[in-house]
Amino acid sequence: MKCQIGQKTYETRVLFSQEAIASRVASLARQIEETVPLQDELVVLVVLDGAFIFAADLIRQIDRTTRVESVKLKSYDGMQSTGAVEVLKGLPEDLGGKHVLVVEDIVDTGRTIAQLMNELRQHRTASCRIAVLLDKPEAHLADISLDFVGFSVGKNFVIGYGLDADGRYRNLPYIAEVLTAGSSGSC
Ligand code: IMP
Ligand code: MG
Repeated sequence: MKCQIGQKTYETRVLFSQEAIASRVASLARQIEETVPLQDELVVLVVLDGAFIFAADLIRQIDRTTRVESVKLKSYDGMQSTGAVEVLKGLPEDLGGKHVLVVEDIVDTGRTIAQLMNELRQHRTASCRIAVLLDKPEAHLADISLDFVGFSVGKNFVIGYGLDADGRYRNLPYIAEVLTAGSSGSC
């Protein structure tokens, strides 16, 4: 499939099929369940917009009482990180004493997760863990540690399954990388 970002058209390559994602999400849910006592409630904090599809699939696989909350953060323009994390919707008030699971689509520089975890620390949660579908370990700039990672990927920009380029391509059922000049297989 070709994709258009800004004025340019790029080739893409599928990295993870719909089936591969579904199977990985199910196994992440099993791992997450092990960290939450049966009788406890889990607050799932979805980082909008990108994580909405991952979170929707993940929470339906988690066999615990869950409450879903969201924050809305923005740090990307097209395929470029702006270097700043803009808070469009902040944290809910009542997280004290709760088991919180942050659900994020992808970690790139790590700035978004680092800033969110800093704010969450002030809420005195019972526990606070991070589940990300995709991690770009080579791109980390912030000092972060992730509890549950779906897949590690290289530095290429990725789209699909909730991940966008300027708001587009979130509806692709698979995850694809965008092949820019310099990345292997580019056109
Ligand atoms: P970070 O703060 O640099 O770690 O960037 C994380 C945020 O940037 C994610 O929540 C995504 O919204 C966005 N992002 C980073 N890399 C990609 C990508 O390859 N595709 C789509 N969005 C991305
Ligand atoms: Mg995001």
